[in-house]
Amino acid sequence: MKFRNKRPFIAVILGTRPEVIKLSVLIRQLRKHRASYFLLHAGQHYSYPMDRLFFKELELPDPKYRLSVHQSPATGHGHHVGRMLPLIETILLKECPRAVLVQGDTNTVLAGALAASKIPEIDLGHVEAGLRSRDRSMPEEINRILTDHVSDYLFAPTKGSQRTLEQEGLDPGKIFVTGNTIVDAVRENLALARKKLGALPFGVSRKRGFFLLTLHRQENVDDRGRLASILQGLEEVSRKLRMPILFPAHPRTVKMLKTFHISPPADVRVLPPFGFLDFLRLEADARLILTDSGGVQEEACILRVPCVTLRTSTERPETVAAGANVIAGYRPGDILRCARDMMERDRRWENPFGDGRASQRILRILERRLS
Ligand code: UD1
Ligand code: UDP
Repeated sequence: MKFRNKRPFIAVILGTRPEVIKLSVLIRQLRKHRASYFLLHAGQHYSYPMDRLFFKELELPDPKYRLSVHQSPATGHGHHVGRMLPLIETILLKECPRAVLVQGDTNTVLAGALAASKIPEIDLGHVEAGLRSRDRSMPEEINRILTDHVSDYLFAPTKGSQRTLEQEGLDPGKIFVTGNTIVDAVRENLALARKKLGALPFGVSRKRGFFLLTLHRQENVDDRGRLASILQGLEEVSRKLRMPILFPAHPRTVKMLKTFHISPPADVRVLPPFGFLDFLRLEADARLILTDSGGVQEEACILRVPCVTLRTSTERPETVAAGANVIAGYRPGDILRCARDMMERDRRWENPFGDGRASQRILRILERRLS
């Protein structure tokens, strides 16, 4: 890998937990090959267990630029993206990298994509391109569509996402099926994860069994009725299937539980967010995963742990087609029925997200195209 140049070759823009995790292997490869690159962290996530913990544990270099543009609940997504945009643009104009890479569908991604796409000298690559939930009320869906449509390189994780991009009229010459970089991150860290953690929290053990829960989507946790309905479903799951549910809670959810004065049921054990290694081990050891996270749906599928998605849609239909995931929605009866069904699943499904070399492929493509 050459990647040496007077102009920095690549600027990696990130800002939230899943972006740090999913770009970690790619960043480590840039460093290993002494590529000319820099990291720009927008500061969307900022609490230690949502951000710096991952830099430490995944041995990532400190970002050259660290902004602190947090989302404020008092203002909207447009405001959040709008505040990031000029700050990112100023840095890109100063550094003028050959290419910018963004990953996923957050507000950070959209701000980075808009800033880069307005500078003709800079190419833009979107890692995890072509995912669609077909639900435009989700802020992430708008971020994905807009980012894909201004990108010069679309790194689609699967053939399905490639098809989606082609159906939207995007130039097939810009689309590359690479696999998903989450497979790279899981493969690199799973053995370490299995070694690391001692006893599980709350006296829970792998042998006796437990379920794992994550919940943070705006449409689930900012809506009192929907949050209460999901928690009631989880209470029934835990009681009827006789399993404790471990719940490393996202700060957004902790805040909304307080705001609505809602306490999770006793057998839903609330914990602080975990680092990636501890969380991976919990996922791998869980009998069932219940989640509204995008990345966790993928990881459950990769680790062959059945997954119940607490949403009405998914942008990861490959997990459902593989038999690894079911879309339960948010009604208690549906959640219980889906949990029961998934416990019976034969776990020998195929991982649809590639061979763990997506980061390497992305960097090779960029090297070839930009040299
Ligand atoms: C964001 C992404 C979502 C992604 C998630 C990953 C958007 C629109 N949403 O949602 O797609 O799945 O990140 O986790 O970009 N907070 C803290 N500390 C933090 C981060 C957040 O306390 O480190 C609290 C703050 O009260 C903040 C709230 O969580 O207002 C929401 O954070 P925000 O980044 O806006 O959205 P997420 O729900 O994290
Ligand atoms: N994750 C973690 N600790 C936790 C919960 C999740 O490290 O306590 C990791 C998880 O392994 C996955 C990523 O965070 O790689 C998913 O992030 P999140 O659910 O916040 O966002 P999404 O994927 O929905 O955008």
